[in-house]
Amino acid sequence: MSRKLYIKTYGCQMNAYDSARMAEVLAPLGYASTSVPDDADMILLNTCHIREKAAEKLFSDLGRLRQVKERKKAVGGDLILGVAGCVAQAEGAEILARAPFVDLVLGPQTYHRLPEMVAKLARASGPVLDTEFPAEPKFDFLPETASPQGVSAFLSVQEGCDKFCTFCVVPYTRGAEFSRPAASILAEARRLVAAGAREITLLGQNVNAYHGEGTDGRGWGLGRLIAALAELPGLARLRYTTSHPKDMDDELLAAHRDVAALMPFLHLPVQSGADRILAAMNRRHSAADYRRIVDRLRQARPDMALSSDFIVGFPGESDADFAATLALVRDIGFAQAFSFKYSARPGTPAAQMDGPVAEEVKSARLQILQDALDQGQRAFNRACDGRVLPVLFEKPGRHPGQLLGRSPYLQWVHVPAPARYRGTVVPVRITGIGPNSLAGEIEAAETEAVEMPA
Ligand code: 5AD
Ligand code: SF4
Repeated sequence: MSRKLYIKTYGCQMNAYDSARMAEVLAPLGYASTSVPDDADMILLNTCHIREKAAEKLFSDLGRLRQVKERKKAVGGDLILGVAGCVAQAEGAEILARAPFVDLVLGPQTYHRLPEMVAKLARASGPVLDTEFPAEPKFDFLPETASPQGVSAFLSVQEGCDKFCTFCVVPYTRGAEFSRPAASILAEARRLVAAGAREITLLGQNVNAYHGEGTDGRGWGLGRLIAALAELPGLARLRYTTSHPKDMDDELLAAHRDVAALMPFLHLPVQSGADRILAAMNRRHSAADYRRIVDRLRQARPDMALSSDFIVGFPGESDADFAATLALVRDIGFAQAFSFKYSARPGTPAAQMDGPVAEEVKSARLQILQDALDQGQRAFNRACDGRVLPVLFEKPGRHPGQLLGRSPYLQWVHVPAPARYRGTVVPVRITGIGPNSLAGEIEAAETEAVEMPA
């Protein structure tokens, strides 16, 4: 029987990856993905809990979906409504209490059990809740038929976080750190490459804390894993996200020096440039530590570009603390960044801290910081003008005869190029700088063009 599945994904790339895996485990039950919620027989909301009013947003979305479900029931149909992801993990039974029309509530660690939950639902009369942290790692239960993700693919290698930054819910919703064995990662990477991937981004909440079992039976860090992945024929590029400064170890720095496929762009959240605030955040590093790590990265790979996350208005943040953040931003020169106003997350230590910063102060600081970060990003992009950058072509561009690809620094580049260049890395001279992307022209026509599967 053919049924339709609609998944709405909130939040990070990890969630996007999980949504794709949920679609895969449901495929054997006859569920095919649709992009039209009204056509769906099952709707899953894959939620994110990291910032602001996540639960309120969920309940307002659920309110709307309740009407969709009622409309379907009125004409003799039905709709299975599920809530997955980190809000499901955090709120659990509360969701079923406040929204009793919800059929499934499942945390990020149990989506391999979805078929079982759907079967239970068909048998029983009540909703199904599964927000355990099961003993069996879900990765062992996922189908080995990685759906094609295109030229640039994601691969989850690590999950969870033991860092307990005082503002963050992740250690509570995603649980303790867990690293997949290298053999299973390498197998998934081979399948992705066979399906057309030329670039793989390794994912983890704390990806550089990776410490999985190696193929030689020893413990491998992320640097070792990257070196092994770089050997896969057909794989041109590797990236990893998101990292913690504390876990940038020597082996990983060496990988940035020695592994050509490892791209010279790193998302390395710093959150603040003030030591007082970093301590209150329990980040376990100082601003000077961060600068040192960036120096070492640039020694390893002189063209290393950095991206970061910032929080303004953390409890107790003074004008001087904020000025220290701005100084760090100016000194490092980030190619890209995300910045947020601090918002108290219930259950986290920072939510109990003294010295809340007034909303207007937070807004003013965010504006100033974002202006500084924008300026840095524009300067970085301008410095690319006239340079020849290797571009990995991912997809057709907006205009006929154009392809869209990524530079090593994750910038989108629009280039007039034949469709057969999709999936290949081509030297491109940058000729134009836009606000969100670059434009360029192919510098040398000789490429090792690999035809992409349709
Ligand atoms: N308030 C504001 N920003 C937050 N982040 C995480 N928790 C909070 C919070 N309570 C930001 C951090 C993190 C990014 C993913 O989200 O900057 O790196
Ligand atoms: Fe959250 Fe800190 Fe862990 Fe990142 S390192 S997921 S911010 S607790």
